[in-house]
Amino acid sequence: MQDEEATEEEFTVTPWEVEGKIDYEKLTEKFGTEKVDEELLSGIEDIAGETHFMLRRGIFYSHRDLDWILDEYEKGNEFALYTGRGPSGHTHVGHLMPWIFAKWMQDKFDVEMFFQLTDDEKFLFKFENTLEQTHSYALENAKDIIALGFDPEKTHILIDTDNIDTLYPLALKAGKRLNFSNVKAVFGFDNSTNVGSIFYTAVQSAPCFLPTELNEKDVPVLIPCGIDQDPHFRLTRDIAETIGYLKPALLHNKLAPSLDGTGKMSASQPKTTIFTTDSPEDVDEKVNEAFTGGRISAEEQRKKGGNPDICAIQNYRFFIFESDDERVDDIAKRCRNGDILCGECKGLLKENINDFLEKHQKKREKAKDRLDEFLFDG
Ligand code: TRP
Repeated sequence: MQDEEATEEEFTVTPWEVEGKIDYEKLTEKFGTEKVDEELLSGIEDIAGETHFMLRRGIFYSHRDLDWILDEYEKGNEFALYTGRGPSGHTHVGHLMPWIFAKWMQDKFDVEMFFQLTDDEKFLFKFENTLEQTHSYALENAKDIIALGFDPEKTHILIDTDNIDTLYPLALKAGKRLNFSNVKAVFGFDNSTNVGSIFYTAVQSAPCFLPTELNEKDVPVLIPCGIDQDPHFRLTRDIAETIGYLKPALLHNKLAPSLDGTGKMSASQPKTTIFTTDSPEDVDEKVNEAFTGGRISAEEQRKKGGNPDICAIQNYRFFIFESDDERVDDIAKRCRNGDILCGECKGLLKENINDFLEKHQKKREKAKDRLDEFLFDG
């Protein structure tokens, strides 16, 4: 018993705090989610005609009711996708992960996509933030979403303070059924928590019900998101049916680690996080400083090899920047054999990141004039 408690305390995952080395197996047990198994993977592949590297590599690894979503889809009952982002700063590449995946899902399944940018959340939970700042970051983040190439006819970006007329009735329905003791237990709130934060989870629930409202019929919703967001939707799922809606389904991704080799990428750790707005010089500097699995000297590394398993550079490649499995494996092998040293390996990653960012930043610039095509009108 003692031991169990001790290991459980080695890491913490809540929507607002991720600490320690996350044991993803344990987390699924703790949260009570299902693992994405072979059957589900081939179910997706059958419909999509191919798989996505994030599924194949177990980055999207856990779910709730994904099997139901696929069954319904096959019966002709299309789902809507919903995901979101708390605009506390510029978008970093860790955020792009579920979005790149969601874009693939939209392409393959040809479904509606809803994004929620929670300027209210980031205002409430961070004392220093003003609403003006979080709202302006919401618009900045929206440009990144648009730059990824979502279909403007089928993609709706909601900014909480702009679209509250639409969201509020739905948030109220959820808020009426959520009780303080559950919310407190799930999020670890106490008497000093501001009351805005206590209600907030109801606002994050609201878009789960929006596709049903807009279509005037039950629309299943699938939420691809970081596993850290699961607590919100566990609450939503508990109350959805009591207020006349379907429970949202979830597909969880592992969190992209930061460049220092610990925890998750975080906007509050700018030195170890790559933002979509970074210049090639910023990227060079951050990648150069990253934590690697290298040895103390080049000589020793040539002799004994490095350890790609703990290396932030290899992780970045694995999680986002290299979709070719063979290349990922090949670099890992060369690292273990001592055939590639950290300098060269960092150079390869920098190229990947800078190529991606160069294109992304151009599209991001153009997205400035396309906001109206995507921002939810209501
Ligand atoms: N709370 C999320 C964050 O801090 C933002 C968010 C809102 C979200 N709705 C979501 C994330 C739905 C995933 C899915 O980033």
